[in-house]
Amino acid sequence: MSQLLLRGRVLTFIDAPKNIDDTAAYSYFEDGAVLIENGKVARVGEYATLARVAGPQAEIVDHRPHLILPGFIDTHLHFPQTQAIASYGAQLLEWLNTYIFVEEQKFSSSAHANFIAGRFMDELLRNGTTSAVAYCSVHPESVDAYFAAAEKRNMLMIGGKVMMDRNAPEGLRDTAQTGYDETKALIAKWHGRGRAHYAISPRFAITSTPEQMEMSRVLVREHPECYVQTHLSENRDEVAYATSLYPAAKDYTDIYADYDLLGEKMLLGHCIFLSDREISVLAETRSVAVFCPTSNLFLGSGLFDRDRFQKLGARFSVATDVGGGTSFSMLETMAEAYKILHVQGQRLTPFASYYMMTLGNARALGLEDRIGSLHAGADADITVLDSRAKPAMELRMRTATTLAEELFVLQTMGDDRSVAEVYVAGKPMKSGLDKHPFLDGPARSPADLQIA
Ligand code: GUN
Ligand code: ZN
Repeated sequence: MSQLLLRGRVLTFIDAPKNIDDTAAYSYFEDGAVLIENGKVARVGEYATLARVAGPQAEIVDHRPHLILPGFIDTHLHFPQTQAIASYGAQLLEWLNTYIFVEEQKFSSSAHANFIAGRFMDELLRNGTTSAVAYCSVHPESVDAYFAAAEKRNMLMIGGKVMMDRNAPEGLRDTAQTGYDETKALIAKWHGRGRAHYAISPRFAITSTPEQMEMSRVLVREHPECYVQTHLSENRDEVAYATSLYPAAKDYTDIYADYDLLGEKMLLGHCIFLSDREISVLAETRSVAVFCPTSNLFLGSGLFDRDRFQKLGARFSVATDVGGGTSFSMLETMAEAYKILHVQGQRLTPFASYYMMTLGNARALGLEDRIGSLHAGADADITVLDSRAKPAMELRMRTATTLAEELFVLQTMGDDRSVAEVYVAGKPMKSGLDKHPFLDGPARSPADLQIA
């Protein structure tokens, strides 16, 4: 049996914090430790206790004074958009047509898909994210690349091929039948293999015909074990266009409801312009709305109204939505979430933020027994945070007196540099990345750039 004992300040959540003083919502050990046996958390507690429990051959890694938390979870992003982050000047539909539908065509090449998939996983890890839910491109090769890269790193990843059979360039369209057949084959190949989970992924109502939506219904009925993901009500022009394509639907949400796609495995990106009726339908079906702060600001989409979801009892999670989102960092994502809520008069406490990135997102995925908190039996996916990683943070931290304040500094000023180490199933990953950052795949030299 291999044993690893991580020493540091350990923080893990037990429940959603009700307010900033809700100390019952989390466990915090100032001189704490996580004992890992064969890739799983065996115990969490005081270092002095666990040092006695661990065998004499246990490897001890001292992360003091850093914070040890569960690995972050990102519940919505697009792996083929890794090189399209920061595409200038357009809102959703124009942005998709101008940049994204050009970029995603490159993923018909397995070589390209493999290169980007590797770099994508490494970028998640560099930012302390150990699990994520991603859209691949329409090409089955992109799904193979995605899950192979995750498997190589032993990461718990969820994903699937986008299905899209209209309103996209020919090179990105499947058909209702090929979308169904390819999805079936990919589920058979990947779902449940190692730590892989499949997500049935009709991109959104605009790029799927009623025939493809019908096939999505069949897929969801035949594979209740799989996740389902799509986009809902992100942008006003999108809402108008989607509802015009499905005139019999009461509203945008009703399009997906009509095809029986809603349910507790359904992740709906964005959910900004929903009526109370629509949010109530999400609540009744236990569907999850995915809040994507950096994307919603970058694409000029709108402001997610968290308090209305809470009031109506609907579930929600948080995500980067790279490449509409501008950062792989969940810390930077929560910094923008704070501002989006603040501008609406809503408050996001530091503890609520860290809950959302970890246990909250794990619960949204129904995976809280495996990831999102450090409890005996959980997979040892762990992030180690350094709140003094940048000079300005170090200076700011000299005035911090509470854990809440430190977490807020980390969220507001932190990024990948604040992630001192990340463990996937008990194996350290970040130190290796930093030693060999750019070894694989084609790079473009600055001389190749055409600067107008
Ligand atoms: N709606 C449909 N496809 C996409 C996408 O790739 N990104 C975002 N942000 N919204 C979408
Ligand atoms: Zn998206």
